[in-house]
Amino acid sequence: MQNKKILITGGTGSFGYKATQKFLQAGAEVIIYSRDEYKQALMKKEFPDAKFCIGDVRDLERLQECTQGVAVIIHAAAMKHVDICEQNSSEAFKTNVLGSKNVVAAALSNDVPVIINLSADKAVYPAGIYGESKAESEKIFVEGARKAKVLGKPCRFSNLRYSNVLSSRGSVVEIFEKILQDDKTVTVFDDKMIRLVLTQNQVISLVEFTINNSLGGETYLIKSPVLRISDLATAMQQHLGKGKVEIKNEIREGEKYDAVLLSAEESRRTLITTESYLVILPEFAVSLSGYHERYGDNYFAQGEYGTHNAQYLNNEEIIKMVYEESDELYNQHNNHNTEKQGTADLPALEGGTPVRDTHLPYATQWTGEEEKKEILEVLESGWLTTGPKVQQFETDIAEYLGAKYAIALNSGTAALHCCVGALDIGPGDEVITTPFTFLATANAIVYVGATPVLVDVEEDTYNIDPEEIRKKITPRTKAIIPVHYGGHPCNMDEIKKIAEEYDLKVIEDAAHALSTEYKGQKIGTHSDMVIFSFHPVKNITTAEGGIITTNDEELAKRCVMHRTHGITKEAMERYGKDANWTYDMQRLGHRYNMTEFQAALGVAQLKKIGFFQQRREGIVDKYQQAFSSMPELILPTVKDYAKSSWHLFPIRIREEMLNADRNKMIKALKAENIGVNVHYIPIHMHTYYQKNFGFKEGDFPKAEKIYSSIITLPLFPKMSEQDADDVIKAVRKTINYYRR
Ligand SMILES: Cc1ncc(COP(=O)(O)O)c(C=O)c1O
Repeated sequence: MQNKKILITGGTGSFGYKATQKFLQAGAEVIIYSRDEYKQALMKKEFPDAKFCIGDVRDLERLQECTQGVAVIIHAAAMKHVDICEQNSSEAFKTNVLGSKNVVAAALSNDVPVIINLSADKAVYPAGIYGESKAESEKIFVEGARKAKVLGKPCRFSNLRYSNVLSSRGSVVEIFEKILQDDKTVTVFDDKMIRLVLTQNQVISLVEFTINNSLGGETYLIKSPVLRISDLATAMQQHLGKGKVEIKNEIREGEKYDAVLLSAEESRRTLITTESYLVILPEFAVSLSGYHERYGDNYFAQGEYGTHNAQYLNNEEIIKMVYEESDELYNQHNNHNTEKQGTADLPALEGGTPVRDTHLPYATQWTGEEEKKEILEVLESGWLTTGPKVQQFETDIAEYLGAKYAIALNSGTAALHCCVGALDIGPGDEVITTPFTFLATANAIVYVGATPVLVDVEEDTYNIDPEEIRKKITPRTKAIIPVHYGGHPCNMDEIKKIAEEYDLKVIEDAAHALSTEYKGQKIGTHSDMVIFSFHPVKNITTAEGGIITTNDEELAKRCVMHRTHGITKEAMERYGKDANWTYDMQRLGHRYNMTEFQAALGVAQLKKIGFFQQRREGIVDKYQQAFSSMPELILPTVKDYAKSSWHLFPIRIREEMLNADRNKMIKALKAENIGVNVHYIPIHMHTYYQKNFGFKEGDFPKAEKIYSSIITLPLFPKMSEQDADDVIKAVRKTINYYRR
């Protein structure tokens, strides 16, 4: 959102108000476009940083003028009240239909990149003027997307359809609240009346999700729960301890019992993108591949989505939704209830309530139907060990990274071992690496009998410091293993310069760095050999697995031999149809080959790397915005030569500003059910390395300082917006509490 210019039509409504507040907080530039001068004047007082345009969506010229240079249009202007629309049908069509046409035309003429039309569940099976006009506006946006594609315009038009927003201006919650606070009786006209509901905050998250994910032509929805209106009244009455509820069972004319968010026909074109979002693909999406790549773990929704297949909210959930997740009322209420406010702010470690009920891991894989399909294919193929799927995975990775050769193995550790072995490094040789890495990096050096020589790291990137490398080079030094910590690339030009100067080999440990770029080029081809890991917490997974990329034919051959005992033939050549039984062992190798199942996972996962990366970046954006104003935290640095894969999001705490050290902060965050972690305990602090190589604490002060203050926050593509919000909430809560 940072510095994005966002124009909201109808921006003085309840959506516009809330969105303006959120987007300004996120560092965006907000322009309110509406015809209501009075409300604009009120909003200006509250949001002096926002810009205000008096304008009507029925006025194309004015829209064209105001949307120049805009990055996002959120089209919220509409006539929304069912009764008013019925009585003013031509005006409703002018605003809702002509208005949408004008927004599309203005966006196309100004090349606006993202345009979102806010629509409603009533557009699914329209029963009146309002629903019909919204259904028409959705079609206009889909048509806009098609036009943009045909004209080669950069505009992505999407619809965002939502159900009833609790606590929006004039909503039933507001009405009930007032009656109950006055100790009067709320009348519910029918016990059977139910609605799909969501909160204003959820709508804003869906808008953000749409801004980040829109391809053009889709309609985005939130899977909403069902609320029985009588339950709402009863829950609110019990919560407030005031007023009464009367249920009449005589539904009013024109009132519907329930709601539908998605028609049966639409469900055939609908993907479920995350736990909470659905996306209806446009009819013109002849190929779904772009969407599959984007949405990863997806499947088609089954049948229409309405109150009959959504979950009912219980009393506790209703109150949470009304008072905790919907803003203004919550704040008003909490101002009267300081005791509740107190416990909400108290860390769980100190007796407060945890931010979430279930544990959120720091990382986990995301697999779906594509992975299942690939794995079943292998099972049915009859060939399970290294074979055609492994070859396909190797080709796919080599192509993705632009490398000549890729050799798949059963772990990243095995990959490191093969590389060091392939360079004929052995006893008496030294290999330089960083102390701030996982043990696997240093262990690979020890496996071949060589000596690991550690050098300290840069204080901002946590990567090996090239200047320190120079100081540790001896006549015995054979190679350098830089590690791209957390996905941020090392300073490769400097490292290569040193390697050339002293005739050293370079093996990059890119276990964290699939999709990382150094000076605009993907990590994978900068050195003699590069290794990646596919452990489940990594950016893509093969359950366990690793790969080596190289442009050197001889090194590639040696690595292939190493993975099957150092013999000249692999399984296919020994057991396949045209196999010859002879074989010869030429070098000492190991049993490091990858199975077809692992490769099957890899093939499916690699197709999703772009989508996964985007999800990671979205969460990182959120974290950076939320934490940048907290002086107690040091956030990850990104150098101008770097594009990070964001494998990790490590924060560091400034202990001197808190009444808690790093370990206490970890305890506190874990008590909130946030699965934080530490990457890494430096190599030289482990008993084995101290005993066998004489390292001791104090040897690498920068690595130790980073280690003592670092905490890895959860970051993985499958995290929902809510998960990320929970992390932010927990960090804020604990920092606020322990602040000196
Ligand atoms: C920096 C680094 N190098 C190497 C490895 C080893 O990879 P694997 O777990 O696939 O053996 C890891 C794994 O965590 C790692 O983080």
